[in-house]
Amino acid sequence: MRIYDIIQKKRDGMELTKEEIDFFVEGYTKGEIPDYQISALLMAIYFSKMNERETFDLTMAMANSGDLLDLSKINGIKADKHSTGGVGDKTSLVLGPMVAALGVPVAKMSGRGLGHTGGTIDKLESIPGFNTVLPTDKFIDNVNDIKIALVGQTANLAPADKKLYALRDVTATVDNMSLIASSIMSKKLASGADAIILDVKTGSGAFMKTENDSLELARAMVNIGESAGKQTVALITNMDEPLGYAVGNALEVVEVIETLKGNGPKDLLELSVVLGAYMIIAAGKTDNIEEAIDLLYKTIEDGSAINKFREFIEAQGGDPKVIEDYTLFKQASIELEVCSNEELFVKSIHTSSIGKASLVLGGGRERKESIIDSSVGIILTKKVGDRVGINEVYAKIYANDENKVIQAKEIIESAFEFSKTPVNPQQLIKWIVSKNGTIKY
Ligand code: URA
Repeated sequence: MRIYDIIQKKRDGMELTKEEIDFFVEGYTKGEIPDYQISALLMAIYFSKMNERETFDLTMAMANSGDLLDLSKINGIKADKHSTGGVGDKTSLVLGPMVAALGVPVAKMSGRGLGHTGGTIDKLESIPGFNTVLPTDKFIDNVNDIKIALVGQTANLAPADKKLYALRDVTATVDNMSLIASSIMSKKLASGADAIILDVKTGSGAFMKTENDSLELARAMVNIGESAGKQTVALITNMDEPLGYAVGNALEVVEVIETLKGNGPKDLLELSVVLGAYMIIAAGKTDNIEEAIDLLYKTIEDGSAINKFREFIEAQGGDPKVIEDYTLFKQASIELEVCSNEELFVKSIHTSSIGKASLVLGGGRERKESIIDSSVGIILTKKVGDRVGINEVYAKIYANDENKVIQAKEIIESAFEFSKTPVNPQQLIKWIVSKNGTIKY
């Protein structure tokens, strides 16, 4: 088999066989095929596309390119949740303790943030002492003992995806449905869960800006998951404004704690509960969505969710006192308010700009090796549909650098669009995609 022939075949719009896909994925991962030939192949895939079967074979080839996590020693059905990336998205940290409090195992590998989107691992590391690297045995023991463990992705999880993603990033071949779907699902399949619940974001802060593109991506990922024998459900959810009010690592963890104590933002709680409900259904706890939702809300009311979060922090070496004392998080030295000089309604919030403001403050990563400042970020005090009075604050900036705070303020001011007339906020959860089809939520 020759890589030249594979490139030519795809360039001419033909279907690649499983053997050809395995050949190029393996050859590239081992360093036997050079970047320039895989770049040409990616561009051919970009223009000629891949069908469902090819996309599945590509996913499996990438999933099998490194370690496959064996979660069979964990009792019960393991359901994983994955978000395609958003701003202020801390749902994993809210739903994890809620689901675990119901006795359903949460064994999760999460990523770090890159660009304007935040990562769960970075958020957790804002808790003093919290350890996101556990040996596999300890990870499994923690899930068996307290039903929850959350760690960073190991270096050898789907290494083919790591190499291919880096190459796509510099060859303008990221935004192809088959390539995105196979990239995300290869990592999910390698992480060993029995069922996968996907949160596919749509809107200005998402990878997919339109609902149609988000639906197409969701269907592609559900097909892959189901073909691999994993129950897979995707929710299409709004990312036309940040989720909750807090954007920035420690600020988001404080919002998670408040949510688990019953004082959280409505949108964050609703999405966490619905995603969690699909997880506990997949795990066999109930087959009724209303009952699943009720069970999860009860974990907040009876305190079991916040107690589980405390146990989880302790089990991974963190200081659980942060739950009562937020000053134990690293604190920002500068606070600046962003105010309106007219009476208006918030019409839209350009979400990726809010993510960018947090990035500028030092709360995110411009490059893989960037060091994050966990104390900085933004608290929105108004969201879409809210009325803002004269001189009323609509965002607060937390920073450690005078120049960066000015830059962030300008970005935030231009991210908010106002209207003189009342505005209706968008629906948060839009569609549910499963093997049975697509239904409106
Ligand atoms: N996230 C991924 O992991 N891969 C993609 O291709 C896009 C988003």
